[in-house]
Amino acid sequence: MAYYRQLGDVPPKRHTQHHRPDGGLYYEELMGEEGFSSGSSLLYHAGVPSAVVDASPWDLADQSLAGNRPLLPRHIRLHDLTSPAWQDTDAVTGRRLVLGNADVRLQYVAAGAPSPLYRNAVGDECVYVESGSAVVETVFGVLTARQGDYIVMPRAVTHRWVPAGPGPLRLYVIEAASHISPPRRYLSRFGQLLEHAPYCERDLHGPAQLFRAEGEDVEVLVKHRGGPDGITGTRYVVPAHPFDVVGWDGCLYPYTFNIGDFMPITGKIHQPPPAHQVFEGVNFVVCNFVPRKVDYHPLAVPVPYYHSNVDSDEVMFYAGGDYEARKGSGIGQGSVSLHPGGHSHGPQPGAVEGSLGAELFDELAVMVDTFRPLALGEAGRAAEDPGYAWTWSGRGPAR
Ligand SMILES: [Fe+2]
Repeated sequence: MAYYRQLGDVPPKRHTQHHRPDGGLYYEELMGEEGFSSGSSLLYHAGVPSAVVDASPWDLADQSLAGNRPLLPRHIRLHDLTSPAWQDTDAVTGRRLVLGNADVRLQYVAAGAPSPLYRNAVGDECVYVESGSAVVETVFGVLTARQGDYIVMPRAVTHRWVPAGPGPLRLYVIEAASHISPPRRYLSRFGQLLEHAPYCERDLHGPAQLFRAEGEDVEVLVKHRGGPDGITGTRYVVPAHPFDVVGWDGCLYPYTFNIGDFMPITGKIHQPPPAHQVFEGVNFVVCNFVPRKVDYHPLAVPVPYYHSNVDSDEVMFYAGGDYEARKGSGIGQGSVSLHPGGHSHGPQPGAVEGSLGAELFDELAVMVDTFRPLALGEAGRAAEDPGYAWTWSGRGPAR
């Protein structure tokens, strides 16, 4: 993350003695990225942050991936994945894998129960809240998560999701194998968001207060690299509760950004997806499409032209409103579409004509474009609408 914050008590000089009221010392921990060469923060703990008393394997939910073959555009209805027992499902162990590759995994969960303590040591997470609300307790303090928020959780930050009800907390989880940040072209050479960026630092909300908890022999689930699917887990037991931080400062911390604070860039003619970009990771980008005025050329075609992004797989998550270009396709709230590289895609029949003269699009969607092909996870296979690929032609194979 780009800019400096401080919360709680830190000593005037880094790497110097920081005394507790009883005269003992707090334990300083540096969390830093790219081997002391990128963003970092210093945290001051009451206990020793590396202490562990037990470790055992944590078996993740099915992380297998099946290639997109035959190569087809796909439609997956995420709401079909809602467990009847969602009130007993948590936002960490209840995630189901929709699509993925070695760079990013897209998971979905409808949760109602508090999660275990958890950290993802594979990469950063960007969690989009489709609906519901939650408190996210972290070693850096408390975040509140509400509908439309992205929660950007840096790699290896210990945290816990506590849904605030009454309905399910619906989360679309972008799990990277890298870091997730604002696009580099939005940033000055010193890391400030520039004037042409569609959001600024005022829209990014870090923890506003610390969160302390007591406890002995506390479980922490860690997702990390390894195993046959490239990803696996370990369950630690730590001697004292990890939420023991009395202060921290630095440029690395979890934060939230609400999609409603994204100021869309519009134009006289159709603006391509990079105008809608919000974040990026290694080998993928995150864009969002928000309610906006559309193109004002008198002959403008507001919906997208057909396009073949030969280097990308394009995943759209339909989070609200009406998505103009997909009318007649069966896609609705909670749908995910996958439009793979090597296959041209664009508006459903009639959508181009139907959009002429439109002045406003009332759509809300989160798009992940990956530069390497995506495969289908078990949830993607379980909730697929098999008719989607044929909606442009109006007929499928005669079987
Ligand atoms: Fe597209």
